[in-house]
Amino acid sequence: MTAGTLRVDTYLDPDDLRDALRADVAAGLTATPKDLPPKWFYDDRGSELFDEITRLPEYYPTRRERSILVQHADAIVAVSGADTLVELGSGTSEKTRILLDAFRRAESLRTFAPFDVSEATLREAARQVAVEYPGIDVHAVVGDFERHLEHIPADGHRMVAFLGGTIGNFNPSSRAAFLRTLASTLRPGETLLLGTDLVKDADRLVRAYDDRAGVTAAFNKNVLQVMNRELGANFDPDDFAHVARWNADDEWIEMRLEARREVSVSVSELDLDVRFETGEQIRTEISSKFRRERLAAELADAGFALEEWWTDPDGDFALSLSRRDTTEPTPARHR
Ligand SMILES: C[S@@+](CC[C@H](N)C(=O)[O-])C[C@H]1O[C@@H](n2cnc3c(N)ncnc32)[C@H](O)[C@@H]1O
Repeated sequence: MTAGTLRVDTYLDPDDLRDALRADVAAGLTATPKDLPPKWFYDDRGSELFDEITRLPEYYPTRRERSILVQHADAIVAVSGADTLVELGSGTSEKTRILLDAFRRAESLRTFAPFDVSEATLREAARQVAVEYPGIDVHAVVGDFERHLEHIPADGHRMVAFLGGTIGNFNPSSRAAFLRTLASTLRPGETLLLGTDLVKDADRLVRAYDDRAGVTAAFNKNVLQVMNRELGANFDPDDFAHVARWNADDEWIEMRLEARREVSVSVSELDLDVRFETGEQIRTEISSKFRRERLAAELADAGFALEEWWTDPDGDFALSLSRRDTTEPTPARHR
């Protein structure tokens, strides 16, 4: 077996990242209601905390998705016909090993391309995969999947895996834009392997985002530490409570940080003073939960044909395989 190569391309240097953070914080903390995009959770500490979340007893999505992968990885590899696996929001690529093992059994993978905004976690994951799977080329991309999709490796016949239910973190219009950009980046016949958490009992959903050990609360508050460190803000995390609630109308979980008292914060690098009334919240994440018909329609609008739909026996989580079709995407619908 010939040894594979390891390459890391970076489209987000520290200045670029800081500019994006500045813009998001300036807009989000002056908006009504206040909100921040979830990508800012994931500095090194945030990535570690997310890894801990995946092992919590309440956090069923990772275990459910893993069980689906274990059962169907060989079929996924066969149906995709891929020789290049791109993974968006790859994090530690822990579950992805199940796919990589199936590709190894089929002797069909040439390139693995993990893609993430969190550089240190990505570099370490890519290094480990290169050691564990010496026959493949590992081509990691440090980037933002809302801005840099055109930089995913173009060679080979690609399957893009987007696992963990991360697609649920987009609001509906950003999700439509993301899917359409992804479809236009792929060639007809290439595939998308998508992990989606499904609509279910509200109590279970809320518990998954508000665990007893407080790990999700620490993850949520990590965004305050990121603003303190990167933008010279003076948030006291103890001034804020972690809130997770089910929004039944939109069928998504919302994570928020709620001011326990009146709070004044200065963000020195932005020359910005922000006031919070008691009980005022910052929305830090939404996590949409899906139903098959709605997702199939969204995929079709973007230019993907849903071919396979696998769930765990309890119907908690779904993995779907969709193929980039030959027709052009239809104009975006307003939902
Ligand atoms: C919910 S975690 C999922 C991690 C892993 N795929 C899993 O299934 O356990 C989301 C991952 O997406 C990454 N991420 C979040 N926003 C991103 C963005 N805009 N561009 C690239 N990566 C992003 C985070 O750094 C993190 O690794």
